[in-house]
Amino acid sequence: MISIVTRCDICRTPSGPGLVEGDYGYRVTPVRSLQPSDADQLVQRVVDQLIGDAFVNPLVNPMVDQRLLRDSFRATNERAWVADEHKQLTGHLYGAVLGDRAGERAVWTGPDGVSFDDDQVLRELHRTALPYWRSTGAREHFVWCLSEPTRLEPWHALGYTLAAVRGSLELRARATREFPDGYTLRRGTIDDFERCLKLDEILDTAQGVDLRTLSREQRIADREELFETLSDDECHLYVVEHRGRIVAQCVTFPSPQRRGSFDHTIYLSEVVVEPHHEHRGVASALIDAALSIALAHGFGYVETQWRLSNLRATLYWTNYGFSPTYVRLRRALEIS
Ligand SMILES: CC(C)(COP(=O)(O)OP(=O)(O)OC[C@H]1O[C@@H](n2cnc3c(N)ncnc32)[C@H](O)[C@@H]1OP(=O)(O)O)[C@@H](O)C(=O)NCCC(=O)NCCS
Repeated sequence: MISIVTRCDICRTPSGPGLVEGDYGYRVTPVRSLQPSDADQLVQRVVDQLIGDAFVNPLVNPMVDQRLLRDSFRATNERAWVADEHKQLTGHLYGAVLGDRAGERAVWTGPDGVSFDDDQVLRELHRTALPYWRSTGAREHFVWCLSEPTRLEPWHALGYTLAAVRGSLELRARATREFPDGYTLRRGTIDDFERCLKLDEILDTAQGVDLRTLSREQRIADREELFETLSDDECHLYVVEHRGRIVAQCVTFPSPQRRGSFDHTIYLSEVVVEPHHEHRGVASALIDAALSIALAHGFGYVETQWRLSNLRATLYWTNYGFSPTYVRLRRALEIS
């Protein structure tokens, strides 16, 4: 099941400044805790970075509510770090420590949670952050990074690997493809919950989840999450029936505000076609229908996410017309 983790507020660190020595030569990158007085410089860094991202990828929205961002930098209550070279900030790093429903903790860094002028700055920021993140009990660090080779390299050098892709597509009026004979579409309801849960298992398997390894807590968490999604008034469940049986589904809902995403973006999730009914055009007709309804309701963009390990989905979404914007990088935080 795909879940969205939205960016939390940048939080304030209580501790004072400290120096971290660089790895090579005589250059030292001083890293210290973020202070409220850094807010203006950091806002400018984030604004410039997003403008750069949007220049490289027009599906990235460069607009930022600068006042809100400044306030969140000023009101930080969790640890974040800046590289301060003679009062000139050359980087920053923040990660929100979030727990999932099953109690697993991870650190999340959004597109505005990190900036660095060069690889050494990132290395020093990262070296400072790691012990703290480990001390929180978090097991993994995820970073949303622009899907662009030069942006990814510094993270790869720190041991991060590609985990998932955020794909985006501008919605336009276009002909919707017909369902193959015998397949019908209808809006799903909460009564379809158990069947959707079964289809979600197909999705989980395709995304590389070994269902046998799921703990009871994780199963309960998945169940609750799907129930919550389907109970939400803004969420649309679409199901496809064949001979009176649901064989495919998808869910859409207004995307929560996320850095780099446009307003009026619909989020597409839980897309599954039962294996026996694949390659007949069921998914394409289903998604065409869901997106044309979203367009009629005023949405201008659609986003979805897929795991890179899911080759079929990677091919499917790119063929459908989705383009990667940000990728989710992952690194385990070995707990010492
Ligand atoms: C990905 C998935 C949704 C695609 O569903 P699908 O119904 O097979 O998709 P479609 O039939 O619309 O299109 C699939 C391919 O079949 C082709 N196709 C469509 N109708 C066809 C037909 N009548 N004859 C032959 N091929 C056909 C399409 O052109 C498409 O080719 P492409 O992938 O090269 O673009 C499905 O494989 C699935 O549920 N996978 C597991 C869950 C999953 O990974 N979901 C995505 C999560 S991110």
